[in-house]
Amino acid sequence: MRRDWNLSIDIDRRAPLALSQQIAQAIIEKIRLGLLRPGEALPGTRELAARLALNRKTVVTAYDELAAQGWLLAQGKRGTFVSPQLPAPARAATPAERDVEAGLPAADYAVYGTPWTPADTAGRELIEFSDGVPDSRIVAFDALSSAFRRALIETVRGNLLGYGDPRGLLALRERIAAMLRHERGLHADAQTLCLVRGSQMGIYLAARVLVQPGDVVAIERLSYPPARAAFEACGARVVAIEQDAAGLLPEALEQLCRRQRLRAIYLTPHHQFPTTVTLPADRRLRLLALAEQFGFVIVEDDYDHEFHFAGTPLLPMASIDRCGKVMYVGSLSKVLAPGLRVGYVVAPEPVIARLAGAVMQIDRQGNAVTERAVVELFDSGELARHIRRARRIYAQRRQLTMHWLREQLAGALSFREPDGGLALWLQLAPALDVARLQRDALAEHVGILPGSTFRDDGAAVNALRLGYGGLDERELLRGLQGLQRAILRQRPAGA
Ligand SMILES: Cc1ncc(COP(=O)(O)O)c(C=O)c1O
Repeated sequence: MRRDWNLSIDIDRRAPLALSQQIAQAIIEKIRLGLLRPGEALPGTRELAARLALNRKTVVTAYDELAAQGWLLAQGKRGTFVSPQLPAPARAATPAERDVEAGLPAADYAVYGTPWTPADTAGRELIEFSDGVPDSRIVAFDALSSAFRRALIETVRGNLLGYGDPRGLLALRERIAAMLRHERGLHADAQTLCLVRGSQMGIYLAARVLVQPGDVVAIERLSYPPARAAFEACGARVVAIEQDAAGLLPEALEQLCRRQRLRAIYLTPHHQFPTTVTLPADRRLRLLALAEQFGFVIVEDDYDHEFHFAGTPLLPMASIDRCGKVMYVGSLSKVLAPGLRVGYVVAPEPVIARLAGAVMQIDRQGNAVTERAVVELFDSGELARHIRRARRIYAQRRQLTMHWLREQLAGALSFREPDGGLALWLQLAPALDVARLQRDALAEHVGILPGSTFRDDGAAVNALRLGYGGLDERELLRGLQGLQRAILRQRPAGA
């Protein structure tokens, strides 16, 4: 491991302790505090002596002493390292204890917001049925790496690595706008589109520019929790609207509008999250009419538009919006890879100017190299090729999953074949307890997402959202078999 950073050591020339001992003690203290970790390299003796303005021999004496005591390991020309045999600093039980142990005082001030906690999958080989994530392993690595290589060269040559337009790279805005015009019927261009780091940021920015504290925002009863959280974080009072097997009930929304002023509604009409249904045309028209009548905004999250497998996809609501009521949020996360963080919002130009203002406050702009690389993928045809390939792969995984469920678990669960998306919505037989199923599945090393995850009040929903896209066929079979064993624990065969 290289050591590129200076090791700060305080020396007191007037102290009675020998200088070499002061160095040794300072190093031991850093090791004990976890500031220097087992295996990490120490500066060379010549370098440290020069920096401390000491005779090199003083540093050599300190290092020799520490090596003799087992703190350090001298490896000849490679240098001197903190002994890899030393135990790593023990992981403290609570974050506050860890802060103290790492030398940080525990926070003595209040902080707001919802904490993020990492998923507890440590030490478990888990097959995770996600909420519908794609398989980023299927991205064409060669195409991606040459796109990034070319992008890096072009951004450097074109002097594009500095600060740029907060709406994102013009060339990418143009490419995405053209795709949306041709494929989805949106009246988009580079001025009415703002690039963001994934649709989650698009939803958050929409909330920022739409909501003032106390404004009412509607979402479906079963919805995407991070979207709800984004609106709430901006001060919205979020109200859940009932839905049926065909999606959101316009009558329920109308009743809400008659009772109170509605500022916005967040929807995923293409493939409803989490129930997967496509909102029928008549309800879309009804919603647009209500938006016009009551003056609310529709935030349309079209997060996985490309993965539509049955019938002709309905065009987004934004494509038939004649009154300027829809903010359209899209993403390349599902179609390419979530880790690239490329999404976009389409809205009238003055709205985009506000979004760009908010981008300036958060992260200033996107990553110029990534945005340029995605332009390369558009222009070389690789993106379109990848979409065609990914659609084929996901169609196979979807068929396999649906076939297996029908063959093996027909008595325990049912589902409606969705027109698209990378997940299924499984209704469990009433005799099955979904919370117990989640625990039993975990014991079988399978992660599932109970329907209650998607309700604001956490009330029980006897259903699961089963994302199949991120698992290959072998993983799918292992996961499905584990799910079957978990079901059998509650419902022995033949019972
Ligand atoms: C409904 C929905 N909206 C938004 C997102 C956020 O996606 P991203 O920010 O990666 O574009 C997701 C991700 O799973 C999603 O399922």
